[in-house]
Amino acid sequence: MKIAVMGTGSAGRALGTKLADLGHEVMMGSRTADNENAVEWAEGAGDDASHGTFADAAAFGELIVNCTAGGASVEALRSAGAANLAGKTLIDVANPLDFSRGRPPTLLFCNTESLGERIQDEFPDARVVKSLNTMNAAVMVDPGVVSGDHDVFVCGNDAEAKQQVVELLESFGWPAAQIMDLGPIMAARGTEMYLPLWLNLSGALGTSMFNIKLTQ
Ligand SMILES: NC(=O)c1ccc[n+]([C@@H]2O[C@H](COP(=O)([O-])OP(=O)(O)OC[C@H]3O[C@@H](n4cnc5c(N)ncnc54)[C@H](OP(=O)(O)O)[C@@H]3O)[C@@H](O)[C@H]2O)c1
Repeated sequence: MKIAVMGTGSAGRALGTKLADLGHEVMMGSRTADNENAVEWAEGAGDDASHGTFADAAAFGELIVNCTAGGASVEALRSAGAANLAGKTLIDVANPLDFSRGRPPTLLFCNTESLGERIQDEFPDARVVKSLNTMNAAVMVDPGVVSGDHDVFVCGNDAEAKQQVVELLESFGWPAAQIMDLGPIMAARGTEMYLPLWLNLSGALGTSMFNIKLTQ
């Protein structure tokens, strides 16, 4: 598949590399066509890896992965062009964290809204699926780095798009039983509001290599 990875940070590069390793054609998008991280990533990620602007990548991708800073995601996706997102599955892994007052970051908005919903509202023709935002990028693409069974969430309004994301997650190594469908995109509120706890856990454990395991 042709996949656009929007974002040049550690999440974008980890997901881009995994997707390229799985045989997908991946274009990494950035505000500028010659972003240093994107150029370096594309050079190391094989013949089917390329880079460009957010608009170049979105036009290229049959599926879009949003790995931009959460506070700037809507702006970044606007610059990608709504027409380039229309009809496509858009996996949103971003969190609306505000680092402007230092650490720990706070959520820019929550409770009655979420970034996943803002993106779906702004781009009604895109098929937004929130997933993978509740763990470190290294865990997203290689669940085996955390021992035992542990879980990943999906939510979104389009059942077909969610199924496509579930299949992609399975190709990353996520067992079907560990992929939990939380329902419509509104459930992004909960997964985004988990971030303050994730940050506390990371501090307490002294690592970001951990994840949620659900038991009943
Ligand atoms: N890193 C992780 O392990 C991890 C885990 C879970 C979720 N996430 C989420 O994934 C997203 C990406 O995280 P990250 O750590 O990889 O990188 P990041 O530093 O949060 O984001 C980098 C990307 O955001 C873009 N960006 C920043 N400000 C922008 C603006 N004003 N307008 C347009 N684009 C802007 C950058 O564009 P340029 O390329 O032009 O610089 C870059 O592509 C975040 O929302 C984060 O919360 C990350």
